[in-house]
Amino acid sequence: MIEVSHVTKDFVMPKKYPGLRGAIKGLFSNEKTVKRAVDDISFQIGQGEIVGYIGSNGAGKSTTIKIMTGILSPSDGTCFVAGIDPNRRRKENAQNIGVVFGQRTQLWWDLPLSESFTILKEIYNVSDQAYREQMEFLNQVLELSAFFDKPVRTLSLGQRMRADLGAALLHNPKVLYLDEPTIGLDLVVKDNIRRAIREINEKYKTTVVLTTHDIGDIEELCSRIIIIDEGKKIYDGSLEALKDTYGTKRTLSLEVKQIQKASGFSPAEILGVREEECITELDFENSLLKITFDGHKLQAPQILSTVMNEIEITDIQLKETELAEIVKEIYRHGTEGE
Ligand SMILES: Nc1ncnc2c1ncn2[C@@H]1O[C@H](COP(=O)(O)OP(=O)(O)O)[C@@H](O)[C@H]1O
Ligand SMILES: [Mg+2]
Repeated sequence: MIEVSHVTKDFVMPKKYPGLRGAIKGLFSNEKTVKRAVDDISFQIGQGEIVGYIGSNGAGKSTTIKIMTGILSPSDGTCFVAGIDPNRRRKENAQNIGVVFGQRTQLWWDLPLSESFTILKEIYNVSDQAYREQMEFLNQVLELSAFFDKPVRTLSLGQRMRADLGAALLHNPKVLYLDEPTIGLDLVVKDNIRRAIREINEKYKTTVVLTTHDIGDIEELCSRIIIIDEGKKIYDGSLEALKDTYGTKRTLSLEVKQIQKASGFSPAEILGVREEECITELDFENSLLKITFDGHKLQAPQILSTVMNEIEITDIQLKETELAEIVKEIYRHGTEGE
C-alpha cells in the first residue's frame, strides 16, 4: 500500500547570523544552510497494517508523513501510496487518504460539526447512501451525535479529536495518517480513540500510520513499529522483537543495612563477570542499591545470593525495563539498533 524508497528530504534555508546586525547581514547574503530532515529512508507498509512511526522530537516523523500525504515532495527517492505518487497526483491521492494532525483541527472552526461533514461530503464526492452508511458507523465508534450540531470551537479537545478522526474517515480512505492522535487527551478519551482506530482497521482493512509519543498507543495499536532518529531509520520490526532485543534489562533494587560496605561493593567482581557486559548500571543512594543487568546473561537469584553473602538486605524489588525506557535506550544507541 505504501512504498517509500530511499527518500531524503533537505530543507534549504538562508543562513542565519546572530543579533540584529546579523539579521540585516542575512537579508543581503546568499549563503544557505541545508537541514537534512529525512535521510535515505525506505520501508513498505501493506494493506491493513497499523504501523507506529516513532522517534524523538525533530527526528523527521512529520516530514515523512508530509511526504507520504503529498504535502511535500522528496528531495531524493520515491514514494508511492496505493500506486500513486502522492505529490504529483494530489487530487487522486486525496481520495485515498485521511489525515489527522493532533495539534490542529482540519474542521471549520465556527461551523456546526454537521456542516463541516456536509462540506467534506461534497469535496470527496461521497454519495448520499455511502454518507448515511459511513455516518452510522462513525457515530457508533466515535459517538459524534451528542455534539454533532455544535460549532467546532465549542467542543472539548476529546470531542474535537473524535470529530477530526470522523472527518478524516468520511470518504473511507485506504490509508489513514495520524500525527500524535492522542496528544493531550485524558485516559478515557485516549481509550475511545484507540478503540475507534482498531474498529476502523478491522472493518475496512484501513492501513494506519501513526506517530506518537504515547507508549500506550504503540502497545495497544501497533503490531509493527518503525523508529527513526536524526532522519535515519534505526529500527523496523515488531514490538515483541524489539522487547526481546532491548527488553532484557532487569533492575534489582535492594534496600541494604550496611551502607558503608554497599557503597564500595562490586557484584560483577564477586560474580566473576565482566561488568560492562552483564551489569549495565550500579547505583547506590539512600541505602538503596540498584543493580541493572542483562537478563539474558545473569539471573536475579544468582546476583541476589552473591550480594546476600556480603551485605545484609532488608527489602527486594525486581523490575523489568519499561518499553518507554527501551525506546529511550534505542535513541541513545542510534544506528546500533538496526
Ligand atoms: N519547513 C521546514 N523548514 C526547515 N526545517 C524544517 C522544516 N520542517 C521541519 N524541519 C526540520 O526538520 C527536522 C525534522 O522535523 P519534523 O519532521 O517536524 O520532526 P518530528 O515530527 O519528528 O518532530 C527538524 O530539525 C525540523 O526543524
Ligand atoms: Mg512532528
